[in-house]
Amino acid sequence: MSYEKWRSYFTANSSHFEGLDWNDPVHLTQLEKARILSSIQQFQKGEQSEGKHLFAFAKKMGDPVYMDTIRLFIREEQKHACVLGEFMDREGIPRIREHWVDNIFRWLRKLAGLENTIFILVIAEIIAKIYYKALYQATESNLLKKICLQILQDEDYHIAFQAHTLRYFFKRKSRLSAMISRIWHRFLMAGTVCVVWLYHRPVLKSGAFGFWKFYEETMEVFSDLDILIKYNKTLQLAWI
Ligand SMILES: [Fe+2]
Ligand SMILES: [Fe+2]
Repeated sequence: MSYEKWRSYFTANSSHFEGLDWNDPVHLTQLEKARILSSIQQFQKGEQSEGKHLFAFAKKMGDPVYMDTIRLFIREEQKHACVLGEFMDREGIPRIREHWVDNIFRWLRKLAGLENTIFILVIAEIIAKIYYKALYQATESNLLKKICLQILQDEDYHIAFQAHTLRYFFKRKSRLSAMISRIWHRFLMAGTVCVVWLYHRPVLKSGAFGFWKFYEETMEVFSDLDILIKYNKTLQLAWI
């Protein structure tokens, strides 16, 4: 699938949160709030990035359509942060300015070129795929459930979009270097699962995710990504 199609997708999806009912009378219970507070604060912060480094690395690809698409992708991630932030304001949950986990991810993203940046990004997107499912199951708030569903749908597309670019790099690697980078990526993914579990387990547990279920489902999505990259499979996306 071409970047033109991805650009059309992100453009068409830009009004995706318009149907939210901000006047829904159901608020978080005290118990729900206690469970999700520090966790949602960190995810809201993590979604909020200006994408300066991603943009700078993407520029080196020399493809203006890819640049446009990256711009729209960054805007969509910022929209996630914005909607989560509005939800937190409504529920009296303060926003945070920084978090050490987020700082580590940002540092890792800046380490090398576009391939590394995208890979670190896609790890966060794979985690999001499971986390927002748990958050959906951990609350009775209709508004938060709808926000989670929309983010989950967006993250599917984000993973497929990043796989499209990662395949470009994969095709240029020797067998050995492809194997080394896949082992490294799997190690990074597994390590991230452990860190996220330590910090977010109240939400994951109340969303019916014990450690092994969280680990297995995350690694399953990771393997799907691997297939998308390696075999150039395209997800059955509704809008294609
Ligand atoms: Fe996101
Ligand atoms: Fe994403």
